[in-house]
Amino acid sequence: MNRAIKFKLKNGKVVVIRRTRGTDYEDIMKFLEKFTRGSGAIQTFQYAGQPKKDKEQSIKLYEDPNNLFISVWDGKNVVGTCSITKKRPKHPYCMGTTADIGMTVLDKYTHNGIGSKFFDICEKWARANGVHKMQAGVRHNNIPSIANCIKHGFIITGIEYDEVFINGKWLHHYMVEKILEN
Ligand SMILES: CC(C)(COP(=O)(O)OP(=O)(O)OC[C@H]1O[C@@H](n2cnc3c(N)ncnc32)[C@H](O)[C@@H]1OP(=O)(O)O)[C@@H](O)C(=O)NCCC(=O)NCCS
Repeated sequence: MNRAIKFKLKNGKVVVIRRTRGTDYEDIMKFLEKFTRGSGAIQTFQYAGQPKKDKEQSIKLYEDPNNLFISVWDGKNVVGTCSITKKRPKHPYCMGTTADIGMTVLDKYTHNGIGSKFFDICEKWARANGVHKMQAGVRHNNIPSIANCIKHGFIITGIEYDEVFINGKWLHHYMVEKILEN
C-alpha cells in the first residue's frame, strides 16, 4: 500500500487507512492503551497494563519492507491496526513466502467493515510481495474473527490445544491459512 485511502464505514463515517510509519509510534501506543481497556483485547496477546512496546524495535518493524503495518485513523486517533509479516524472509527454504496476519479494531469501530478491508489490503500486498501463504492464529471462541477469516477464503488447517488460560479456562487456537494462487 503506497498511499492513504479514504474508507467509508458502514455507519457512514469516513476514516483514513494508510501504512504505519515510525513517526506514528506514540499514536499507536495511545491506541494500544485504549484497545487493551476494551473487550476485544482478550482475543489477542495485548493486555491492560502491559509494558510499552520498545520504540526502536517497533519502528524497525513498521519500516521493514518484509512487513506491512497499517493503521486506521479517525481524525488524529488510531482506531484500528493490522499487520502482515513475512516469516523467515532470509531463510533459503522459506524466503518469506508465508506471512502472519494480526488485526485489532477498537470495540466502538467493529462491525463497520474495517476487518474485511484489512484482509483485502493484506492480500493485495501479499500477492505483490511474493507471499505464497497467509496465516493467522485465532482463539476457538473468537467467532467474529473466524467468520472474517472464512469470508476471506481462509480454511482451518490445525489446532493448538490449551494454548492460553484466560479467566479460569483453557482456550485453543485455530490455525487458519490461505494459499495464494495466481
Ligand atoms: C475480528 C475483528 C478484527 C473484525 O473486525 P471488524 O471490523 O469488526 O470486521 P468487519 O466489520 O469488517 O466484518 C467482517 C466479517 O467478519 C465477520 N464478523 C464480524 N463481526 C462479527 C460478529 N459479531 N459475529 C459474527 N461474524 C462477525 C463477518 O463475516 C463479517 O462480514 P459481513 O459484514 O459481510 O457479515 C474485530 O472484531 C476485532 O478487532 N476484534 C478484537 C481483536 C481480534 O479478535 N483480533 C483478531 C485476532 S485473530
